Parts: sequence; structure tokens; C-alpha cells
Amino acid sequence: MPAQQYRATIERVDVLAYNVRSFRFKLVEPPAMPFRAGQFIILNVPHEGKVVKRAYSIASPPHEAGALELCIQHAEGGVASTYLWQLKGGEPISLSGPHGTFLLKEPLEYDPVFIALGTGVAPFRGMIRHLFHVNFLRDIWLLFGTRYEHAILYESEFRTLAGMRRSFHYVPTISRPKEWHGETGHVQQTFQKHIKDFSKVEIYVCGWLERVKAVCADLQGFGVPKEKLHYEEW
Ligand SMILES: Cc1cc2nc3c(=O)[nH]c(=O)nc-3n(C[C@H](O)[C@H](O)[C@H](O)COP(=O)(O)OP(=O)(O)OC[C@H]3O[C@@H](n4cnc5c(N)ncnc54)[C@H](O)[C@@H]3O)c2cc1C
Ligand SMILES: NC(=O)c1ccc[n+]([C@@H]2O[C@H](COP(=O)([O-])OP(=O)(O)OC[C@H]3O[C@@H](n4cnc5c(N)ncnc54)[C@H](OP(=O)(O)O)[C@@H]3O)[C@@H](O)[C@H]2O)c1
Repeated sequence: MPAQQYRATIERVDVLAYNVRSFRFKLVEPPAMPFRAGQFIILNVPHEGKVVKRAYSIASPPHEAGALELCIQHAEGGVASTYLWQLKGGEPISLSGPHGTFLLKEPLEYDPVFIALGTGVAPFRGMIRHLFHVNFLRDIWLLFGTRYEHAILYESEFRTLAGMRRSFHYVPTISRPKEWHGETGHVQQTFQKHIKDFSKVEIYVCGWLERVKAVCADLQGFGVPKEKLHYEEW
């Protein structure tokens, strides 16, 4: 699916955490974007009379191709995220897509383990909702790492999915907990505790570059073969 330009409207903005918002875009022209779960779009953001381009993973699944959801963290002083933060909904915006090759490995004859750091959960939300949509019945793991319990993203949605299917294992890990009774520390520790057999898994990691590098290095130290690791970083 080659990338093309789209005109869109920002349909709604929702607060996901103190520093993260969800932006839902309605595509206007063309009215739908065929894409694969895990891909990203490039937003054209007006800035000082010019346009800056920023990539954002699509957090919604491909079967909802007429609208796209993004999950964006505010970067202090960041050009695009600061611009997006003053939008309320209804504004026009242009973008291109789909881009990227961070896709589910085919055929789907393995148990996917998704390791998300902060907004790195975006492509995995699209992948997980796609896997539910196609009635994928093998085990799916989502290991989500963030600092605070109030910074967990899409928690009620993932808990609902885990309640619907016992094969979906949702394990948030909090590094700076206050009153948290779940996993604590970094996601690597949670991985070591839960994922013992590397033969039937493919592991996907996404988030900020420095963290992704650290997670992948630690996983290889645990004996995960390099070819089982797939990552997207920013
Ligand atoms: C393939 C791909 C997918 C991406 N998907 C997402 C996504 O789903 N959600 C998302 O939020 N971002 C995502 N990003 C990052 C995004 O493209 C921007 O880099 C990010 O939003 C910062 O842009 P900005 O214009 O606001 O900041 P800039 O003006 O580019 O940067 C300002 C400063 O902030 C720092 N900075 C950048 N990001 C952050 C941050 N998150 N927190 C603190 N400081 C930061 C930079 O190092 C720089 O020093 C993705 C990037 C790539 C390459
Ligand atoms: N491009 C950029 O410059 C950029 C992009 C994104 C974020 N950031 C910065 O990073 C901060 C955190 O944002 P985030 O997007 O990463 O999300 P986040 O929601 O804060 O989650 C990141 C999680 O990763 C943990 N972590 C730290 N080092 C790790 C390691 N080596 N291995 C595994 N996990 C590790 C953090 O724990 P700790 O409590 O130990 O930190 C935290 O629990 C932001 O406030 C921002 O300053 C910068």
C-alpha cells in the first residue's frame, strides 16, 4: 500500500494521562487509508510559516480505516506536540501514510509478546485490536512499562479485553509506584518472570530509543535470540 497525502479533521481529543493525549482523525479526502497494524503516519504541522513533519504510530486497528487514532506524549518545548496540545477538535490537518514496516510477522504461528514503554503502546493497541478482530486464539502478551500508576495508557480497555479472553495477558509494570499492587520495576523484570519459553514467541518492543535499546540488550542477555526481537524506536 503506497503512502499518499490525506486531508483530515481532528474529530476528538481525549486525555489518556497527565502527559499523553489521544487524537482521533477523520479522513476527509481520500476518505479511508488502507494500512497494516503497526504502521505510522506523518503529520504536517504548521510552525512559523513553514510545515514540520512528525511521525506517529497508528493506535487504532486497520478495520477502522476511515478514522485514525494517535497516542501522543507532550514533549516539553516540542514543536508538534505543543501545537497539537492547543487543539480542541474540529481543526483541519494534513498527513501522509501509511508508512513503516513494523508489522506482525506472518504467518501468525507464534505467541506475540508486546513490550511497550509509555506511548510505545500505540502500535500494539492497533495490533492487539486487529488480532481480536481476526479471532486470533493463541496467547498474546502485553507488558506495559511506565513510571506512575496514573500514567498507564488504555488501562480499562486492555483490562476489558483481558476479561473477554483468557489468552490475552495484560501486565502493566510501574517503576515509581505509590499504591500499586501489580508488577514493579522495569519491563525486563516482568518479562523474565512471565516468559520462560522463547521457542514459541515473537517479541515486539516499542518506545523511546534509549529504552528500547536497553530492553533489547537485556532480553538478549536473558537468551532471547536476536531474530525473535522486532522493534520500533523514536
Ligand atoms: C516511527 C515513529 C513513530 C512515532 N510514534 C509516536 C507516537 O505514537 N507517540 C508519540 O508521542 N511520539 C511518537 N513518535 C515521536 C514523534 O515523531 C515526535 O518525535 C515527538 O512527538 C516529539 O515531537 P515534537 O515536535 O513535539 O518535539 P521536537 O520539537 O521534535 O523535540 C523537542 C525536544 O524534545 C525531545 N523529545 C522528543 N520527544 C519527546 C518526548 N516524548 N518526551 C520528552 N522529550 C521529547 C527531543 O529530543 C527534543 O530535544 C514517533 C516517531 C517515529 C519515528
Ligand atoms: N526523544 C526524546 O528525547 C524522548 C522521547 C520520549 C521520552 N523522553 C523522556 O523520557 C521521559 C519518560 O518518558 P517515556 O516516553 O519513556 O515514558 P514513561 O511512560 O515514563 O515510561 C518509561 C518507563 O521506562 C522505564 N525505564 C527507564 N529506563 C529503562 C530501561 N533501561 N529499561 C527499561 N525500562 C526503563 C521508566 O522507568 P524509570 O522510572 O526508571 O525512569 C518508565 O517506567 C519523558 O518525561 C522524557 O523526558 C525523551
